[in-house]
Amino acid sequence: MKIYVPRDAAAKALGADEVAAAIEAEAARRGLPLTLVRNGSRGMVWLEPLVELQTEAGRVAFGPVTAADVPGLFEADWKRHPLALGLTEELPWLMMQTRLTFARCGITDPLCLEDYEAHGGFEGLHRAIAMSRAEILQEVIDSGLRGRGGAGFPTGIKWKTVSEAEASQKYIVCNADEGDSGTFADRMIMEGDPFTLIEGMTIAGLATGATRGYVYMRSEYPDAVEVMVEAVRIARAHGLLGPSVMGSGRAFDMEIRVGAGAYVCGEETSLLNSLEGKRGVVRAKPPLPALEGFLGKPTVVNNVISLASIPVIFQKGAAYYRDFGLGRSRGTIPLQIAGNVKRGGLFEIAFGMSLSQIVDDIAGGTASGRPVKAVQVGGPLGAYFPRALFDTPFCYEEFAGAEGLVGHAGIVVFDDTADMLKQARFAMEFCAIESCGKCTPCRIGAVRGMETVDRIARGDTAAIPLLTDLCATMKSGSLCALGGFTPYPVMSALTHFPDDFAPMKEAAE
Ligand SMILES: Cc1cc2nc3c(=O)[nH]c(=O)nc-3n(C[C@H](O)[C@H](O)[C@H](O)COP(=O)(O)O)c2cc1C
Ligand code: SF4
Repeated sequence: MKIYVPRDAAAKALGADEVAAAIEAEAARRGLPLTLVRNGSRGMVWLEPLVELQTEAGRVAFGPVTAADVPGLFEADWKRHPLALGLTEELPWLMMQTRLTFARCGITDPLCLEDYEAHGGFEGLHRAIAMSRAEILQEVIDSGLRGRGGAGFPTGIKWKTVSEAEASQKYIVCNADEGDSGTFADRMIMEGDPFTLIEGMTIAGLATGATRGYVYMRSEYPDAVEVMVEAVRIARAHGLLGPSVMGSGRAFDMEIRVGAGAYVCGEETSLLNSLEGKRGVVRAKPPLPALEGFLGKPTVVNNVISLASIPVIFQKGAAYYRDFGLGRSRGTIPLQIAGNVKRGGLFEIAFGMSLSQIVDDIAGGTASGRPVKAVQVGGPLGAYFPRALFDTPFCYEEFAGAEGLVGHAGIVVFDDTADMLKQARFAMEFCAIESCGKCTPCRIGAVRGMETVDRIARGDTAAIPLLTDLCATMKSGSLCALGGFTPYPVMSALTHFPDDFAPMKEAAE
C-alpha cells in the first residue's frame, strides 16, 4: 500500500511525524508492505495531518488524523472510517482552485526529481533554454506577472533592466524572508515543491545573464531550509545547476543563506545588506538593486512565488497564464487564509475574487461562529477592511483604490470581539520594534504613534487629529514601506471603526 503523510511544517506541528511513525509501526505489525511518501501539504490546514491512501480510483483523503487513530484506520482497512473524506481531488476546497504555481504541491514527493519531471517539471526550463534572452524576457513581460512579494512590480521589466546592465557578474536573489503575518505560501512551496523555485531562478539567470543565485531564507523556517539545501544538492548532482545547465553550455548555480531574523530584512535593500554580512539597514534608492544590488552588481530580487510562477508560464505559455485574472492583475494568486476562520490554508485562484467570497464561502466564516468584523489583507502593513468593503475584488489596483494593499496575499480574519484601537496600537508598536532606525518619521514616529493611540484610549479627543497628521508624515516621509505603510492599518482602523476610538472608552470600561 502507498500512503502519503505531509512533511510540511504546519502538518508536522499538528502531529504528522507521529502519524507517519504510527503508520509505519502498524503496517510492520500487520506484515503489510508499505510505501510511505512524505509529500507537501495540499493547503487544507484545518484537515492536517491529512493522510492519503493511493487507490485505483485515485488518492483518498483522511483527516485530521492523530497517531491514536492509526490502528483504527488499519482495522477498517482504510474504508468507511469517520475520518474518510473521499477522493482528495474531489474535495471542494481543491476543486474550486486554479492551481498553476502550486500544481504539484502535495501531489509529488518534494525531493524526487523523477516525480517532479513526471508532473511537468523542467518542461518550462527546456523551452527557455531553446529561446534567446530577448525571447525569454518578452515571454515574462507578456505573461503580465507582477511581483508577489508586496509591491506588485512587473517581473519582466525588472529582469529586462538587469539583462541590459553591463557587468562582469550579475545575481538572482530570491526573497524567502516571508515575514508578513498570516502568510506561508513561500514556506509551503519550498517544502512541498522546491524544484519549482530552482527552475524559476534558473530561467531568471538565463534571461538576465546572471550566473549565481541566492535564496535568502528566514531562520524560523528550519524545515524549508533543510528541503531547499537538499533540493539544490540534488539539482547540482544531476547537472541542472552548475557550469552547463542541462548541457546547454550556460552556467547557473545557487546557494541557500539563512537570515538572523528581522522583519525589515525582507525589504530588498536591507536583505542585500544582510546577505553581504552587514546589518539589515535599508539602503536609499536609487541606485536600484537591478543596477547596483548584491556586492554592487546588477541583481534581480524577486519573491519566492514570483520565481516559482515562472516555470508554469514557460510550460504553458504567456498567453495561457495571462488569460487568468482581472484588469492589470494577471494570472493566479495563492491566497493564504488565516486568523479566526473555520477553514484556513492556501487557496490559489485567479485575481478578481471578492473578499466576501473568500471570507464567507471559502474560509467558511469565523471559527468562533461570531460575525466577521474586519479582515487585514497584506500583512502587518495592510489595511483592515470592514464588511462594507467586502465586494472589493482581490486585485492590485482595486485594493489600492480602497486604501489597501494585496501585499503577499495574507488574509487575517477577526470577529466582532476585536478591538481596532488595540490593533492600531499594535501596528505602531510593530513598526517601532522592527524599524531599522535609518529615517526619522519611522524611528521616532512609530513611538509617538503608540503614545498618541494611548492618549486616545484615555479619552483625549485632541489626539485623534494628531494621529492622522502623524500618519500623513510617516506615509510621505519614510524611506521604505515599513514606516510608509504602517499608516494603512492605523488609518483604516480609525476610519472604518470609529466607535472603537470613542473618547473615554477605556475609562468607561
Ligand atoms: C518592511 C518590508 C518587508 C518586506 N518583506 C518581504 C518579504 O518578506 N518577502 C518578499 O518577497 N518581499 C518583501 N518585501 C518587498 C521587497 O522589498 C521587494 O519588493 C520584493 O522582494 C521584490 O520581489 P517581487 O517583485 O517578486 O515582489 C518587503 C518590503 C518591506 C518594505
Ligand atoms: S521606514 Fe523605518 S524601516 Fe524603512 S528605512 Fe526608515 S527607519 Fe528604516
